[in-house]
Amino acid sequence: MLKKIYHLGYAVEDLDAAARLYREYFGVVTGEPEEVEEQGVIATMFDVGESKIELVQPTRPDSPVGKFLAAKGEGFHHVAFQVEDLEVILKELKENGVELIDDVPHVGAGGVRVAFLHPQGMLGVLTELVELPRGKG
Ligand code: CO
Repeated sequence: MLKKIYHLGYAVEDLDAAARLYREYFGVVTGEPEEVEEQGVIATMFDVGESKIELVQPTRPDSPVGKFLAAKGEGFHHVAFQVEDLEVILKELKENGVELIDDVPHVGAGGVRVAFLHPQGMLGVLTELVELPRGKG
């Protein structure tokens, strides 16, 4: 059901500085930053073996990540699990009374489909489910 940890999301104040830190310290290759207007963020990723780190900077203070930063400062923000069939899993979770942030998947960067689960029902951890386009993992 959960295929792997797809990425860990870090909330950062300054995306360029955060990406540079990982490039300088660990020699990672960071992707082109992508803005997701709907969520009020700009994000970049880099590979760590089979998983990734996603660096997320808010583009406005009232976005969810903007509020997170204001309340808690920089740090770990969410875990993203890759799943096989997002719609089926969302339906099952809903039937089990799990509190969903997204009832239906959103299409994110690179054509991936994503949905968030509320941290309250997930042991305090904001949880993202990711389904890749067919043929991509
Ligand atoms: Co994410």
